[in-house]
This record gives sequence, structure tokens and C-alpha cells, in this order.
Amino acid sequence: MKPVKVGLLGLGTVGTGVVRIVEGNQEDLRSQVGSTISVEKIAVKNPEKARNVVVEQSKLTGDPWDVINDPEIDVIIEVMGGVEKTKEYLLEALENGKHIVTANKDLMALHGAEILAKAQEKQCDVFYEASVAGGIPIIRTLIEGFSSDRIIRIMGIVNGTTNYILTKMSQEGASYEEVLKEAQELGYAESDPTSDVEGLDAARKMAILATLGFRSNVELGDVSVKGISQISSEDIAFAKKLGYEMKLLGIAERNGDQFNISVQPTMVSQSHPLASVNGVFNAVYVHGEAVGETMFYGAGAGEMPTATSVVADLVAVVKNLKLGVNGLKAITPYKPKLLTSDEE
Ligand code: NDP
Ligand code: HSE
Repeated sequence: MKPVKVGLLGLGTVGTGVVRIVEGNQEDLRSQVGSTISVEKIAVKNPEKARNVVVEQSKLTGDPWDVINDPEIDVIIEVMGGVEKTKEYLLEALENGKHIVTANKDLMALHGAEILAKAQEKQCDVFYEASVAGGIPIIRTLIEGFSSDRIIRIMGIVNGTTNYILTKMSQEGASYEEVLKEAQELGYAESDPTSDVEGLDAARKMAILATLGFRSNVELGDVSVKGISQISSEDIAFAKKLGYEMKLLGIAERNGDQFNISVQPTMVSQSHPLASVNGVFNAVYVHGEAVGETMFYGAGAGEMPTATSVVADLVAVVKNLKLGVNGLKAITPYKPKLLTSDEE
């Protein structure tokens, strides 16, 4: 198979990790997919900026359309963030027959249905594993691993930044502002960290998880949200004294045809496993009627864990290219249409 050419939108925290993995694991990736994968073009805001990874200057462009409209590019990896303009880029990329990997939960929670419908129309892949819980392959797990079961509850810590802040406040008595700044420097926080600390990032992730887990159309507006910005060091110390840790928990429950989905600071008993999920780590409990309770744990943000999920999606796209299928056969659309037996 001819080399697969990738266009990257964004070379920040996640994009840097993607380049490192694609370049560093070239041989292993080739042995899995049967062809060379090369990052050919990269769109950034400022092509002159110093980078943390070696890339040929000639590959950088300040205009994402250069990547989207390049007929040589087979796959677009979108790791630049943004919603409306980014949607425009990705819809056009699909129009041009390109497959997409994205880490963008804001985009997928708001416009996933439209993007996946376009992908289906154009017989292209859209994979978005990194959009929820960074390095934990929870999206594949919900779609494939639990396709046999009926999920009744999904619960967990799905935002690394807030968990990092709450952990440092609890364990080291650090100040909220100080730790938020640290989380930004470590590349965990969103470009506007309001979405982390006000719970919106977690809400977007819970909307995605609930949609996939419950195989229903869960909207962002269905999630009630409260963040951690009003939580003080005193609240955390008080909770601790009573035997609890403060965690920002996302909970999605199915009750018949009704869903209750929320994100809120919660006092978790120190004896509960979620109380020991610290720092940037995330954990997701999935409770199915048949399987019972399962738990998934790992880094929820950061360069290499997130890039691991992105490049795994890239491998899936390339395997599909090779087989001449697209992932919608393996990975159901974000807004799955529930088929009746007649339609099948
Ligand atoms: P960064 O802010 O670190 O990087 C963004 C990159 O996109 C930069 O290279 C920037 O260019 C480029 N960029 C931004 N706007 C434009 C534009 N209009 N045109 C061209 N290039 C642009 O973000 P992250 O890597 O942290 O996150 C990227 C995406 O991944 C987001 O959707 C985020 O939510 C998601 N994500 C992030 C995780 C993390 O741990 N950081 C984890 C999971 C998902 P320049 O370098 O020149 O400024
Ligand atoms: N800002 C997000 C977080 C990045 O802290 O969890 C990972 O989605």
C-alpha cells in the first residue's frame, strides 16, 4: 500500500505528542498497517514559533485550508481545538474524501451528529477516542466492548485539570490559582480553562459517553453542570476531616427511557476507589446489566497519553483504508440511529 499522508491541524500539546509517536514508532506502526505513515503538512497559528519537536519548517502553514485542500492528504488529525470554524474545516475535509481523527470534545459534543452524518455520506472515518478521558480507550470500550450489554450507569472523573487542582489542594494545601496555573503549564487545561473549572469540559465528555453507552441521543443541554471554582481549601479540608475527598464527578444514569446526567463536585468516601484517583488521572465506572461494575483508569490529559489515543485512531483509519471499509461499520455514529428490525 502506498504511504499514508497525514495532515495535522495543531502542533500544541497533543499535536507534538502525535508527531513524536508517529515519528518514533514508525517501524512498529508500519508493521501493523503495512504502509508508512507520514505527517506531511501541519497547520499552526504561528509558523515562526519555536517548537518542542523537530519538524521541517516547510511542512508548517498558518492556514488550515492548505491542509484541508491538499489532494495528497489522506487523513486529517485535528488537534487545534475550536468549534465553529473547526467544524467548517472538518466538513470540507470530509467533502474532499479525507478521513478524520479528532481529540475535540467541544466539537463532537455539539456537532458530532452533523460531522458523522457527513462522514457516512462520504464513506469516510471520523474517530474521536481522545475526546474523552485522554489515554483511556473508553469510547471503543463503550461501543465495542459493551455492545452486548445494556449500560445503566456511567460514573467517573473525566477532567484531568480539575482533578489535578483538587488533589493538590487536598494533599499539599496548595492554592486554587497556583495549581490551575501549573495545570495550564503542564498542558492539561483547555486554552480557556473556564471550561475545565466550571465543569463544561466534563459535561461535554459525559454527553458523549452517555450517548454511546445508552445508545441514545443525549444532548449537552441534558447535562446539569456545576464546576469547582467555588470550592475553597476550607471545603476540601472539612470534607477530609469527615473522611471524604472532594472530586468533580460525572454521573449518567438510565432509568427506563429517562436519563439523569450531571457533573458536580462530590464528597467521595476515602474508602471508595475514586477517592484515590489523583492528579491528572481519570477513572470511569461503567455499570452494565449483564457485566455488572467495571472500572477504567489512566491519564486523562497530557501530551503523550492523549496522543496515544489519537495515533491509535490513526492506525484504525489506516487499517480500514487497507481493508477498503470505513469505521462506521466498526464504530457506530456518535448519534446512533436505533435500527428497527424492518429497517435492517
Ligand atoms: P494547544 O493549545 O496546546 O495547541 C493548539 C494548537 O493549534 C497550536 O499548535 C496552535 O498553533 C494551533 N492553532 C490554534 N488555533 C489555530 C488556528 N486558527 N489555525 C491554525 N492553527 C491553530 O491545545 P492542545 O494540544 O492542548 O489541545 C488540542 C485539542 O485537543 C483541543 O481540542 C483539546 O480540547 C483536545 N484535548 C487536549 C488534551 C490535553 O491534554 N491537552 C487532552 C484531550 C483532548 P500555535 O502552536 O502556533 O499556537
Ligand atoms: N482539559 C482537559 C482535561 C483535557 O483537563 O481533562 C483532556 O480532555
